[in-house]
This record gives sequence, structure tokens and C-alpha cells, in this order.
Amino acid sequence: MPSSSPLHILPIDSSARAGLSGRDRHGSHTRRLSRRFIDTWMEQRMMDVVTYRDVGQKPPQPVSGDWIAAAFRPPERRNAAQQTVLAESDQLAGELLAADLVVIGAPMYNFGVPAQLKAWIDNVVRVGVTFGFDRARPGEPYWPMLPTGKRLVILTARGDYGYDEGGRLASSNLVEAGLKVPLAYLGLTCSPILGQRELESSGVMAQVGGGADEPFMSEIGTLLPMALCGRNSL
Ligand SMILES: Cc1cc2nc3c(=O)[nH]c(=O)nc-3n(C[C@H](O)[C@H](O)[C@H](O)COP(=O)(O)O)c2cc1C
Repeated sequence: MPSSSPLHILPIDSSARAGLSGRDRHGSHTRRLSRRFIDTWMEQRMMDVVTYRDVGQKPPQPVSGDWIAAAFRPPERRNAAQQTVLAESDQLAGELLAADLVVIGAPMYNFGVPAQLKAWIDNVVRVGVTFGFDRARPGEPYWPMLPTGKRLVILTARGDYGYDEGGRLASSNLVEAGLKVPLAYLGLTCSPILGQRELESSGVMAQVGGGADEPFMSEIGTLLPMALCGRNSL
């Protein structure tokens, strides 16, 4: 990678399974993919800074009535209780604002992302912080507030096959749109899907560990430049 200034990487794991497939019994494939991705990335860019977020093991609080009242109140008019309600959201949104590269491990649960990951999305989509809104604005009343140049990599795993474009279940795949649409709304528009993989069928592990799975895992290394999103350098 040509750039020598450190980048901030934000890996987010969201599987409810704590272990890694191939290493731990009933381990998570997306956790293995994201670990592999970050390890490979850091081998090439040791100077980069990683801030890890595990929403699968520590789910963010879902949005509540108090949260909404606080988030849509101008910051200078929030009371102490409202500031407390937003503290976790402030932290999560701050991590997203600081990140140059966001790497999300996203299992498919019932065609979409896990509730834990949806809770993260709901906490980082914040008016006045990550997107702007002004009804009186001519044209589009919403605008993205994330600094330009950020990149999103989605690493997915699911049990069934046929979710890719043209596949038999393509219209049922809500994982990628469920991440790309809200994050593009904030300004994160470059989002290659690097690690999609059908690994399990009817709850039975199909290809885990080395052997048949290994070519795919080594693909991650060759796909890293895709995270540049068509640029020559970061
Ligand atoms: C609650 C739950 C719901 C799931 N729903 C789907 C589904 O709708 N479609 C599918 O193909 N696989 C589904 N699966 C299989 C998972 O996508 C698959 O096991 C994947 O590897 C999970 O990610 P992980 O290995 O990182 O935990 C589901 C698994 C669980 C536990």
C-alpha cells in the first residue's frame, strides 16, 4: 500500500458466536474472515491503528423513546440525563467518524443483519453528527456528514446459496443493502463486498478449516487492494 500515513481501521464483529470457525467448536465464520482480513492488512500496513468493536458480544442499546427525544434535541438544550442516554451512541458515532476503513463482519440472520448490528447502525445514524437535516433547505433536505474518502468492507457468511445477483434468493438478500444503504446515506459510498461465502447448510458445517476453504481465505489477501476502491493509494 503506497500511503505511509497511518490509517484508522474499525473492524466490527457482529456474530452472536464468540469463537472462530476452524479454531473453536461452533465458531463464527465472519469472525474468522474479519480476523484474517485485519491480520493480512496489518502485515502490509503495520503503522495503521485498529479500534476493535464487538457488537456481537457487547450489543449497543437499541434506540428508545428517550434516545430519540435526546438525539433530536439541539445539543446545547440537552439535559444531563439526555447526554447520558446518548453517551454510547456518541462513542460509536465517534469511532465511525474517526475511521478511514470500516470492516464489518456480517452474518445473515433471517435474510438480514443480526439485531446487534442493526442496533449499531441505529446508534451511528445521528442527526447533526453523521447526517444533516434541514426541511427548509432547497432540494434535498438530508446530507451526509462523514468526511469523504472512507471505505467500507463487508465480510458476510450465510447458510444457503443463491443470494448473489441473479441467484435464486437474490431478492431475499437484505444483508448488503441493510448495511450499504444507511452507511451510504452518511457518506460512506465505497463498499466492496469481499468475503461473501456460503459455508453452512441446514446447520451442518460444510467446509471448515483448511482444505477446500483455504483458496477462499487466501483470496482475501489478493482482494485487499479492492479496499482502495479504484484509487491508486489510500
Ligand atoms: C438466527 C439465525 C438465522 C439465520 N438465518 C439465515 C438465513 O436467513 N439465510 C441463510 O442462508 N442462513 C441463515 N443462517 C445461517 C448463518 O448465516 C450462518 O450460520 C453464518 O455462518 C452465520 O455467521 P457466523 O458464522 O459468523 O456466526 C442463520 C443462522 C442463525 C443462527
